[in-house]
Amino acid sequence: MSQKNLRTALTALTLACIATLGHAQQGKLKVGLMLPYSGTYTALGVAIENGFKLRVEEQGGKLGGREIEYVKVDDESDPAKATDNVNKLIKRDNVDVIVGTVHSGVAMAMAKAAKESGTTLIVPNAGADAVTGPMCAPNIFRSSFSNWQPAYAMGEVAAKQEKKKKAITITWKYAAGDESTNGFKEGFEKAGGQVVKQLTVPFPNVEFQALLTEIAAAKPDAVYAFFAGGGAVKFVKDYAAAGLNKTIPLYGPGFLTDGTLDAQGDSAQGMLTTLHYADGLNTPRDTSFRTAYAKAFKLQPDVYAVQGYDAAQILAIGLDATKGDISKKAEFAAAVEKAKIDSPRGAFSVGKSHNPVQDIYLRKVDGKENKMVSVAIKGLADPARGCRM
Ligand code: PHB
Repeated sequence: MSQKNLRTALTALTLACIATLGHAQQGKLKVGLMLPYSGTYTALGVAIENGFKLRVEEQGGKLGGREIEYVKVDDESDPAKATDNVNKLIKRDNVDVIVGTVHSGVAMAMAKAAKESGTTLIVPNAGADAVTGPMCAPNIFRSSFSNWQPAYAMGEVAAKQEKKKKAITITWKYAAGDESTNGFKEGFEKAGGQVVKQLTVPFPNVEFQALLTEIAAAKPDAVYAFFAGGGAVKFVKDYAAAGLNKTIPLYGPGFLTDGTLDAQGDSAQGMLTTLHYADGLNTPRDTSFRTAYAKAFKLQPDVYAVQGYDAAQILAIGLDATKGDISKKAEFAAAVEKAKIDSPRGAFSVGKSHNPVQDIYLRKVDGKENKMVSVAIKGLADPARGCRM
């Protein structure tokens, strides 16, 4: 071999090595699942994980050409432990992307850590308005909702359609409860109603008796409640056991009755709620999702399962655009921002603030289902107050 040919061969070999190394460096994509696996939101965390994994399996276990490896942390829905927990994933486990969580207070600590470290974060539930408001960032996405969205829609429905004039709100005292009840108040009062009292209990307490007595004495036209998971089961049952459901309709964002109807039974029948998902959508996309979910987990999916599934869809869109290279943040974000996400809930986009712009359904509890009644507000975008990107 001549010197020149040898040089050419060596160059080719070097280039091949670099290419292979590049591929090897890509290796598996480490997904950190930070979710509640204990406490009142346990079922929500499990449904999110199931939904996420279902989408990954539908893609042959890979997204953007990369195999997925999971690391899990139980966040216990405890904001006091949130910074330590998220740093375990970022610093100890070196994850490529974080998917989490359910609780708004925990999610805000996660958003702060994601913003500081540049780690991609996809929020598959927590509605904290700040995450896609003042804390919004190019590497932070949400596949769920803002607390304002379903709440505002329920306020409109209660005043305009149900013709209610005076309402009391009740919730756990933390970001999600405050934002949800304030969102309801905004929609309700804009449409002519008045919120006369805003009641709270500490998270995750379920001692509701004293407040139910107060509601009975005040006799409002309606009550709007934000609770979810185990707390929602208890609240709806206590409300009915006190006989209040006979005289004062109980409204809420759909979390009050989603994934909870088996346990709530008769106490929830006929309730109206608003949410970005519903039973009985009867679209081919939703039907195929529900069939696959039921087959994989021997369970009916709920809104949390859909949000987990769509978190994987958002990740796939970004990774497809960057050929699996999640460090290409700008390309990743640009692809997600212009995508129409083909969700079981109906197609949605995330826009500049990275929060779903989506239809909010009015649903009515009928047996074990939150049956779709109508579209309460079409293509509702969160106002994204304070988001500058
Ligand atoms: C929240 O903390 O943002 C939250 C928790 C449970 C829900 C919805 C929102 O079902």
